[in-house]
Parts: sequence; structure tokens; C-alpha cells
Amino acid sequence: MARTPVHDRILRLLSAPPAEPDLSAGYLDLLGPGAAPAPTVAQRVMRSTFLPQIYERLWRPVGFNLAKGWPFGPDTAAEQALARDWLGLGRPGDAGRPAATVLDVACGPGNVTRALAAGVAGDGLVVGLDAAPAMLDRAVTDTAGTTGGGAIGYVRGDAVELPFGDATFDAVCCFGALYLFDEPWTALESMLRVLRPGGRIVILTSRRPVLPVGRLGAEAFGRVAGLTVFGDREVTGFLREHGLTDVRQRRFPLMQLAGARRP
Ligand SMILES: C[S@@+](CC[C@H](N)C(=O)[O-])C[C@H]1O[C@@H](n2cnc3c(N)ncnc32)[C@H](O)[C@@H]1O
Repeated sequence: MARTPVHDRILRLLSAPPAEPDLSAGYLDLLGPGAAPAPTVAQRVMRSTFLPQIYERLWRPVGFNLAKGWPFGPDTAAEQALARDWLGLGRPGDAGRPAATVLDVACGPGNVTRALAAGVAGDGLVVGLDAAPAMLDRAVTDTAGTTGGGAIGYVRGDAVELPFGDATFDAVCCFGALYLFDEPWTALESMLRVLRPGGRIVILTSRRPVLPVGRLGAEAFGRVAGLTVFGDREVTGFLREHGLTDVRQRRFPLMQLAGARRP
């Protein structure tokens, strides 16, 4: 696939741009064929070629809406509106949306990436990063022709060691993925590193249930699947300990939304 102006903009955001970037699949591939094998059951599922086909229409709404306490928790559209709001982006179609540079960490097939892009305008750019080629193939296909928001581009890279320069992004989003990472706290540190002063971060991740029976079940499932189940104060506590301000949280039965601002 041909190199585009969006690829050039993304290359300029990297801390160490490759001399000969691999853009052959439509995204910038920084991991190449030698990428490490998936370490857990959940990671293997994420890297399958089947999941991207059903992810956005079936897997995501069913699984996530139940975990958010459907019908009381926010549905996908409400969740995306919360993400744009907490990141300081605009509403789709509104005049005055910021020309922000946004990072969507572990973007999967680009579902959240496109929702964030609808909240920026002008020279705004949303970069989706993921490690799974099948997810990124789907992201590139489903994003082609998207209009009405900021530019969108994709990178194959590791969320735990983000390849971008310090203080590069106005906003960083990581939905439905922190619990998959083998080193979630290192990944969060990496996200804070690439966030510019004044920038905002929002995380949608797992939540340890309050009732003991639910808690034991969630922890047992997490151990088998290789997922981290976070307590109510762990993610927000980490953000505060790292000096972030305006820390906020919404708790759902099995998920939590945490957001903050870098001073
Ligand atoms: C459940 S999907 C989330 C997609 C989207 N963010 C959403 O909220 O629907 C999780 C994604 O995390 C990606 N992922 C897991 N570990 C990763 C890592 N270390 N680096 C980059 N991506 C990773 C998987 O490939 C998968 O696409």
C-alpha cells in the first residue's frame, strides 16, 4: 500500500523512526515478523483471525455491555461519548472540535479510534496502536473512506513500550485492554510519558466485583484467561501517585472507567 501524508505525520511522532518503514499492510508495522508469541489465552484469542470479523458488531457490544451492567450502564455510543468528553474532545459534527493529536492504545479493529476521530477536526490526528495484525487489517479496511473528523492512521507496536516521543499526544485512550497486558503498570507509565502537559488520559478496564462470590469468580476467570482484575482504587491510585490531577472514575459491575489530566 502506498505511503500517505498520514503515515508521514505518524512517522514524525516516533521516538526512533525506522529508516525503511514497513507500510505494506496499510499500517506502520514496527514489530515485524519476529514479534513475540501471545503469552496468555486471552492474548491468543485477540490475535486470531476470526475475532476481528465479529468483534465490533457482536463480541464487543455483548461482552462489554454486560460487564458495564446493561441495561443500566452506558451502551457503546454512550461509552464513546464519555471517552470524547473526558479527553476534552468535541461532539461529532460540532463546530469548534479541537485539532488534537490523540493516541488509541490497543485499538483492535479501530472501533474506538474512529469514535475518537469524530471528536476532533481540522488538523486533528488519531493514531490507533495494536500488536495484532488481523485486528489492524480490519481497522485499516473499516476506516477507509471515514470522513467527518480527524485523520486516522494505525501502527503495529507494543503498548507496554510505546514507540512515540515524550509528550507527543494531547489525549491518550486505552479501552478494553489494560487487563490483557503482561505489564499493565509499565504500559500505563508509557501512556503517561507520551501525554503532553495539560493532556488527558482515559482508561476502560476490568473491575474486581464488590461481593465476595463475584470477586472469587472474576479472579479465578482472570487467572485462567490471563487477565488482570483491578481493584477500585488501583488505577486511580496509580494516576494520583504519578502526579495526575482531576482524577475521576465511574464504576460498573465488572468494569471501570478512569480518567485524569497531566498537569
Ligand atoms: C479487546 S481489544 C480492545 C479493542 C478496543 N480498544 C475496544 O475497546 O473495543 C484488545 C486489544 O488489545 C491488543 N493488545 C493486547 N496486548 C497488547 C500489547 N501488548 N500491545 C498492543 N496491543 C495489545 C489486542 O491485540 C486487541 O486488539
